[in-house]
Amino acid sequence: MFRRPLFCVTLTEISWTFCPGLPNVDIMNDQDPLASFRLDGKVALATGAARGIGFAIARAWASVGAAVAIQDIDHAAAHEAVDQLVSQGHRAIALVGDLADLAHVESLIPTTVERLGRLDILLNNGGVQSYGFFDDEQTAADVEKQFRVNVTVPMLLIRQAAKVFIARGEGGRIINVSSVQSFRGVPQMMPYSVSKAALNHVTSTSARYLAGHAITVNAIAPGVVNTLRNTELFSDGQRVTDLQNWIPMKRPSTPQDTIGAALLLASRAGEYITGQTLFVDGGLSIR
Ligand SMILES: NC(=O)c1ccc[n+]([C@@H]2O[C@H](COP(=O)([O-])OP(=O)(O)OC[C@H]3O[C@@H](n4cnc5c(N)ncnc54)[C@H](O)[C@@H]3O)[C@@H](O)[C@H]2O)c1
Repeated sequence: MFRRPLFCVTLTEISWTFCPGLPNVDIMNDQDPLASFRLDGKVALATGAARGIGFAIARAWASVGAAVAIQDIDHAAAHEAVDQLVSQGHRAIALVGDLADLAHVESLIPTTVERLGRLDILLNNGGVQSYGFFDDEQTAADVEKQFRVNVTVPMLLIRQAAKVFIARGEGGRIINVSSVQSFRGVPQMMPYSVSKAALNHVTSTSARYLAGHAITVNAIAPGVVNTLRNTELFSDGQRVTDLQNWIPMKRPSTPQDTIGAALLLASRAGEYITGQTLFVDGGLSIR
């Protein structure tokens, strides 16, 4: 069994033990490995999280002890999500606004820290997509909006979160929601596909910069998930059957499929994993 070296410090009761230059070991951890997945006392900010993948992840984190700030453009849905979490005994707040509005984006981390007391985990989940690129259905402004929301905003939030984490000196967790399209682009969604490939690069590049501060940066890349953005697809029986035949695991994804990866990457259990894009796609990205 590992023993904690004498000069390691546990900065607060709820923080990760920080041992410069040594494996971040914890005696409790060895006795109860599942305890390392808990997020008691941690605070997470999740963008685009009133529903779909973001909400599934935020709710999972809340269920293992985190307080969560739910950012979303949809006022009613954001407050409904928060009400649901609060009614289940969790701490949650709603931050309503458009991720394309950089003034709103800049306010998210300071507001989270002010209202929930700290920030430990950032989930860059909010993303926008458009179809019909080669059919001229997307203007240059549509293309730029996808890059702004899917790439620029995560980069800016990572930089801001990193400052908070570094100043506190207890590490932190950053998780970006990418896509299987980052691996295999869809021509009619080229700006979206390319933006998600860029997000994978943001993930590995920022991970390299932040690793020495015990800050991990990883991405989860879902496959085809039954959420609001895919309402039309999932209401077409033939297309769902085609999807089932095409996906190696023979079913499309639900938001709940991403929870396991999100719990691992946000918690002490995943503290030695960084710079990775984890495909949670039922095998779509198998080469
Ligand atoms: N659904 C999929 O098949 C799929 C696959 C791979 C990756 N993803 C990625 O997962 C993430 C979440 O997708 P989802 O399918 O759960 O989303 P979704 O369509 O269910 O929407 C999630 C939330 O985002 C909010 N939102 C939309 N535009 C916003 C904006 N400009 N500012 C703030 N909030 C906004 C919506 O109100 C909604 O509550 C996205 O980054 C998406 O690209 C989704």
